[in-house]
Amino acid sequence: METLEGLKRTHHCGQLSDGEVGQSVVLCGWVSRRRDHGGLIFVDLRDRSGYVQVVYDEAQLGESFHKAETLRNEFVIAVAGNVRSRSADTVNPKMETGTIEVVCTELRILNKAKTPPFYIQDDLDVDEMLRLKYRYLDLRRPEMQKNLILRHRVTKLMRDYFDRNGFLEIETPMLCKSTPEGARDFLVPSRLNPCKWYALPQSPQIFKQILMVAGLERYFQIVRCFRDEDLRADRQPEFTQLDVEMSFVDQETILNIMEDLVTELFDKACHDRPQQPFLRMTWDETMERYGSDKPDIRFGMELQNISEFLKGSDYKVFTSVIENGGQVKCIRVDDYADIPRRELDGLVDYVKQYGGKGMAWIQYSNEGIKSPFKKFYSEETFEAIRQATGAKTGDLLLIVGDKPLVVAQALGALRLEMGRRRGLIDPDKRCFLWVVDFPMFEYSEEDKRWKAMHHPFTAPREEDVQYLQSDPGRVKANAYDMVLNGVEIGGGSLRIYNSDLQEKVFEAIGLTPEEARAKFGFMMDAFEYGTPPHGGIAFGLDRLVMLMAKRSSIRDVIAFPKTQSASDVMSQAPSEVEEKQLDELYVRNRAIVKKQAEKE
Ligand code: AMO
Repeated sequence: METLEGLKRTHHCGQLSDGEVGQSVVLCGWVSRRRDHGGLIFVDLRDRSGYVQVVYDEAQLGESFHKAETLRNEFVIAVAGNVRSRSADTVNPKMETGTIEVVCTELRILNKAKTPPFYIQDDLDVDEMLRLKYRYLDLRRPEMQKNLILRHRVTKLMRDYFDRNGFLEIETPMLCKSTPEGARDFLVPSRLNPCKWYALPQSPQIFKQILMVAGLERYFQIVRCFRDEDLRADRQPEFTQLDVEMSFVDQETILNIMEDLVTELFDKACHDRPQQPFLRMTWDETMERYGSDKPDIRFGMELQNISEFLKGSDYKVFTSVIENGGQVKCIRVDDYADIPRRELDGLVDYVKQYGGKGMAWIQYSNEGIKSPFKKFYSEETFEAIRQATGAKTGDLLLIVGDKPLVVAQALGALRLEMGRRRGLIDPDKRCFLWVVDFPMFEYSEEDKRWKAMHHPFTAPREEDVQYLQSDPGRVKANAYDMVLNGVEIGGGSLRIYNSDLQEKVFEAIGLTPEEARAKFGFMMDAFEYGTPPHGGIAFGLDRLVMLMAKRSSIRDVIAFPKTQSASDVMSQAPSEVEEKQLDELYVRNRAIVKKQAEKE
């Protein structure tokens, strides 16, 4: 193999243009494609900046032309040569550097490469596992490099923005005390403190609040967080937050600071400045209209309540739901009354996945009304529903009746699915939304108790504090989420800074004073030394960049993401460790467990 000795890179491939014609240049990069025309070889040379065509001409290179014949895809080479214009008939409009080419005068092969398991090019339909196993090859693709460059640009803009606005970036520990709330913790055994464990932070929530007690006033951090939860396209076990906290502010100030930031990011990194102010909706309204607290408002198809038309009939399915405090709601799918029966049956199953017991429908078709409950209601009722929902002949209503939360979940999911199937979601549209006035608590059927919807440090609305004990379900919080195209990109709240109120909230979620002390004692102590009113928010950086890059998975904007089962298929983590390592950590190893089991 040859070295770079004596050759100094002068340009990057993608930067060359007509302006460099006539110049001699030195380029370095990877062979992306090679075409051999006998006596003339063309190579598309790739580096981080893009591609340029290099020409190897036997007449010019003489003996060393043979070296060019040995080039294969992904060989690493250095090329000295001269930039020249391409003739009109050889200009390649698909290539950014397509008006020029570099005629090679010297070629050095710096390294060979095995044949890659897939082509290094965009729009590839390659199994994602293979892409992740050979991530270094996947990341060579221009589209992936673009995503990582965008991510870099976004974090740089964030740091500049917060610096300009008087925020300090302060790091917080990765080895923390386990304070169970929200997701499951990742635990790390302590060698120096046998049988004790650290937790990796689910977020720096408590530390950033303590930084406010410490008088730092404006904090931000771009920080890795860890949550051991079920994974989805927009969830990773380790992900990055833009974490923010401020003292002496109201909710309005926090929302404005974050809205201005996001506007600046989209403007400067995507050249697509969003319209301000962002729309705002209360949690109650988003649930009522979209059946979701992170609605995709790029399209309508809102949920409509038709309970009043359906009550008091012999049709027990609806009447019993309504009599038991439930509701019957529908979505209107325009011009789809002729939906195939097979698809309707499939939708019933779809709704069941989201907790619904079933789904009914009304087809206002050309041949009249079709509905599984047609015989239970008069023609007038169907006409009244048609008018109330704005349905015209040719439209379809999909209907779910249940408890309000189940209706919201099932019909909210169905709305999204039908929006996708009917092609109503414009991928180029960006709809920002602030969802405000979240409930303070949600009831966990599983644990039979109220849980904090955001986290237990969130401040309830002042006028609702009186219901903390008597009616927790009615208490709203000073909590807010930013939603973009149906994805929750950030969430935060004003915090409790008064110990009495904090105790009441702990009590409402079933924590005794002793339990609260054991879990959050250090925080409660700190709060007794002069805590300023404060509040904050955290954005999911991966999700934000995913949306900026118009991707549908956060794995595409993370250099080394984990798979659905939380493993890294490239480095093979997690992996087994040596017994000795376990011994040092006082973690019971398999051999001991097995021996004990045999004894018993
Ligand atoms: P929250 O839990 O809402 O708030 O998280 C903030 C944002 O982080 C992103 N996010 C995730 N992204 C990828 N993978 C995950 N597993 C994941 N989980 C969350 C989301 C979410 O909106 N400490 C509070 C914030 C605060 O109150 O200041 C918090 O962590 O985009």
